[in-house]
Amino acid sequence: MTSEFVRLEVADGVGTIRLDRPKAMNAISIQVQDELRVAAAEATARADVRAVVVWGGEKVFAAGNDVKEMSTMSYTDMVDRVEALQGAVNAIARIPKPVVAAVNGYALGGGCELALAADLRFAAENAVLGQPEVLLGIIPGAGGTQRLPRLIGPSRAKDLLYSGRFVKAEEALAIGLVDRVVPAADVYTEAVAWAARFATAAPYALRAIKESVDRGLEADLETGLQIERQHFSSVFATEDSRTGMQSFIENGPGKATFEGR
Ligand code: HXC
Repeated sequence: MTSEFVRLEVADGVGTIRLDRPKAMNAISIQVQDELRVAAAEATARADVRAVVVWGGEKVFAAGNDVKEMSTMSYTDMVDRVEALQGAVNAIARIPKPVVAAVNGYALGGGCELALAADLRFAAENAVLGQPEVLLGIIPGAGGTQRLPRLIGPSRAKDLLYSGRFVKAEEALAIGLVDRVVPAADVYTEAVAWAARFATAAPYALRAIKESVDRGLEADLETGLQIERQHFSSVFATEDSRTGMQSFIENGPGKATFEGR
């Protein structure tokens, strides 16, 4: 499939999933959803992608799902489509590598949900986030009612979900919706710099951390600890664990060169 609006650009171990549909403020149409899934699969599969940045360019992250397209859909259309729609954002959330969203401008509705699927979010000083679906008489359908309360707590999430109000970068930082606020011109480069730290890290250890945290958060503590034990034991099967511990013994901390095996 040739992608028109979403592409994966790879440089120095970092893959950028770039949304590029400027005429519609990067609105996430069915085509964009399909292309996001393809890009996520490619970022997952490629060994030269060790970490991922999701970016919508300098002006806008994404103003939501495509309202014009959605407005023509019936209940049964949506029943048939909703799994693929949510699946596009889930595909980003399940990339087994560190993923950061770099948010310039608006991240609204499905755009905010896409940012929520990343491990963390860097926002421009001019970023505006929100879940305005209720103002359209609908609700978030790509994880907003689930990932948002898990991230910022149920009360704050309901405040945003009930009102549909927009949140500026400063407030987003204060409530934990974003993790870092930087000048607009620096968001992407800061996100790439964060991701680049993992280009030479031990990928199977990173993967085990991500799965332990994400799966563990879905479970009770005892189950989460069991998940952790499983992943902890399994990383001892990697060459990187031999390399990492041997390097520590011989040369001290943080000097290992990992092969990614
Ligand atoms: C389709 C959109 C769009 C969207 C903007 N546009 N957002 N088209 N879907 N979500 C289009 C406009 O229609 C317009 O097209 C052009 O982009 C520029 O938008 P303007 O409104 O003229 O720009 P501005 O005044 O700067 O306002 C920007 C804005 C506003 C604040 C982002 O456009 C806005 O509120 N957009 C909708 C936000 C929203 O409700 N998002 C949630 C969608 S529902 P023309 O052709 O007129 O130039 C959703 C559901 C998720 O995401 C649940 C399932 C995953």
